[in-house]
Amino acid sequence: MSTLAYLKSLIKDKNVASITPSSRYTVRKVTRKIDFSGDITIVEYGPGTGVFAEYLLKKMSPDSRLIMIELNPDFVEILQKIDDPRVSVHRQSAEEAEAIAQNCGALEADYILSGIPFSFLPVQVKDNILTATYRLLREDGYFLAYQTSMHLRKPIEKHFGAVEMSFEIRNIPPMCIYEARKNGHRHLPHPPKN
Ligand SMILES: C[S@@+](CC[C@H](N)C(=O)[O-])C[C@H]1O[C@@H](n2cnc3c(N)ncnc32)[C@H](O)[C@@H]1O
Repeated sequence: MSTLAYLKSLIKDKNVASITPSSRYTVRKVTRKIDFSGDITIVEYGPGTGVFAEYLLKKMSPDSRLIMIELNPDFVEILQKIDDPRVSVHRQSAEEAEAIAQNCGALEADYILSGIPFSFLPVQVKDNILTATYRLLREDGYFLAYQTSMHLRKPIEKHFGAVEMSFEIRNIPPMCIYEARKNGHRHLPHPPKN
C-alpha cells in the first residue's frame, strides 16, 4: 500500500524522491539515539506515509508528542488518519519548523528527524532549514537525518560542528545516516540585527 502511494505521488511530485518507504532497518538505525524513557518532543520533516511514526508511537510515552511536517498533500491525507493525541500533522515546509512547533506549544524539540531530499533544495533553503533545526533543538538534542548520499555532511558540520555518519544497506536505495548533536558553543552566530 505504501509503495503504491509513493509511486503515485512521485509521478506528480519530484520532492517525494523515493519509490518506497524506508525499511525497518533504516527506521531502527535512524532512531537508535532516541531515549524513549521520558516525555519527549520529536519533530519529523518529510514523514511520507508515516513509516517512522508507526515505530515511534509504539515507543513514545503517553505525554510525548510527535510533530510531523509534510509538503505532499496525498501523504498529509494519509497521515491525518493516524488517530493518536500525541500526533499533529502540518502541510507545510520544514523551513517553517520553528513557527509550527511554537504553535503546538513546543518551545524546543528533543529530536528532529529528517528524510527530506536536501540535495534537491536550493542552497539558501537548505541553509534556512538547518538554521531553524539548530535553533529549535534543545541543548544536547539530536538532528537525525537520512539521505541517499553523503552530500549533507558539510552543511551539517557548518551548523552543528560535527556529525557522525553510518550507512544502512538494507534499504532501497541504501541510506547514509547522519547524527548531529546540538552544542551551543559550536554554532556560528548570526550577525546582530540593528
Ligand atoms: C524520501 S521521502 C521520505 C519519506 C519517509 N520519511 C520515509 O522514510 O519513507 C521524502 C519526503 O519529504 C517530503 N518533503 C520534501 N521536501 C519537504 C519540505 N521542504 N518540507 C517537508 N516535507 C518535505 C516529501 O514529500 C516526502 O514525503
